[in-house]
Amino acid sequence: MLAYQHDAAGKQVQGSIDLLLSAVLQGHRVKVMFDSITAEPDDVSIQGVHVSSVLISMVAKSSNDIRAFNASGIWDWRILTTTGTETTLRVNVGEYVEQGRTTGKKAVSWFIDTRPWVQVLVNSKTVSN
Ligand SMILES: *[C@@H]1O[C@H](CO)[C@@H](O)[C@H](O)[C@H]1NC(C)=O
Repeated sequence: MLAYQHDAAGKQVQGSIDLLLSAVLQGHRVKVMFDSITAEPDDVSIQGVHVSSVLISMVAKSSNDIRAFNASGIWDWRILTTTGTETTLRVNVGEYVEQGRTTGKKAVSWFIDTRPWVQVLVNSKTVSN
């Protein structure tokens, strides 16, 4: 479900930041949607009353064709936060050669998984036979 949506200035558009914060604290999965991209962040963390997501699994797309990757082979690493701040770093796949670093503002929709957790195993500190 949509938990929180903000504009590029970090201003609330829909949902609530408290709902998103509580879902993250309870370990629910988060997905983000921005521009024409939806992605499951590789890491989600809380800083005070804001949520940050780290996306390090995306390969840069071609600027001419959204269906094609950039032919140079570039990672498109990104940190998005609920303040509206977007930080990106582009490096070559397989080698740390920077291809650009930007900081900007981004409108983002934050979705949460609402399935309840089911306990399947509890273990003690020690092994017993
Ligand atoms: C691929 O990425 C490089 C480095 O950021 C950029 O100079 C080039 O214009 C990009 N090419 C396309 C087709 O997007």
